[in-house]
Amino acid sequence: MNRKPIFAANWKMNKGAVETEDFVKSFLSKIQGQNFAAEIVIAPPFIALPKLADLLHTATAVQNAHAIQIGAQNCSEYDSGAYTGEISVLMLREFFVHYVILGHSERRSIFGETDASINAKLKKAREANLKPIFCIGETLAEREGGKLESVLRTQVTEGLKDISEKDLAETVIAYEPVWAIGTGVTATSQQAQDAHAFVRSLIAELYGADAAGKIRIQYGGSVKPGNAAELMACPDIDGALIGGAALEPQSFLDIIRNGTVQAQ
Ligand code: 13P
Repeated sequence: MNRKPIFAANWKMNKGAVETEDFVKSFLSKIQGQNFAAEIVIAPPFIALPKLADLLHTATAVQNAHAIQIGAQNCSEYDSGAYTGEISVLMLREFFVHYVILGHSERRSIFGETDASINAKLKKAREANLKPIFCIGETLAEREGGKLESVLRTQVTEGLKDISEKDLAETVIAYEPVWAIGTGVTATSQQAQDAHAFVRSLIAELYGADAAGKIRIQYGGSVKPGNAAELMACPDIDGALIGGAALEPQSFLDIIRNGTVQAQ
C-alpha cells in the first residue's frame, strides 16, 4: 500500500509570530528546489496562525510556500458562543488550517481531555473539513503493566466512535508513547512497529482491511535526525509527529530528509 509519509512539527507552546516568521523563512530557503515525497505540516500556537497563513497563502507568499500545510494544536468541540478561551474550527479555517492535532497526551493528562471529548472534537473537525491528527499512546506504567494493547484499543475505539469510513480516510493517527515524549527516550523501531501494526489491525477490525491499508500512522516521541531513517523504514510507520527537534529548521528538515525518499 502506497501511503505518503507525513512529517508534522508540533511546536507546542513555543514560538510566537516573530519566531514563526524566522523559522519559516529559513526553512523555505533550505528546501528551495527540493521535492520531497512527503507531506510537511507545521502546527504553531494559535496566536502564530495568522502569520503562518500570511507567509504561506498570500499573494506575496515566499517561494516554495505551497510545500507546507498549516496545522493547529487543538480545536473546540463547539461551534461558537460562550466558551471562554476556545477556538472554533471555522476560525481555524480562516487561516488556511488543514490539519488539527487532537488528543495529544499533554491535552489528555494536563488538561483533562477524555476519549469522549476527543471524539467530539474529531467530529467537529471533520464537519469543517479539517484533517485530524488523532494522537494515542500509553504511559510507561501502562506498558509495564501489560496494558499497551488494551489502552490503545480503548483510545482508538472511543476516539473514533461513530466516525465514518469517509472521515477516517481524512484522518491521520499519531502513535506517541507518553514515556518517549520530550524524554530523549525513543521507542525502539521494533517497539514502534509492533504498536503501529497493532493499531492498523484495530482499524482493520473496525473499518476493514482496505481502510487499514490506507490510513497513515505517524510515530511521535523523541524523533530526531539520527533516528528518523530507522523508524521510517518500518513498514507500518508513515511519518512523524515531532516536538523538540522540529523547533529548529535544519533539524526538522534533516528528519524529513532522512525519513523520506527524495523524489527528483
Ligand atoms: P518530542 O519530539 O519533543 O518528544 O515531542 C513529541 C510530541 O509530543 C509531538 O507531538
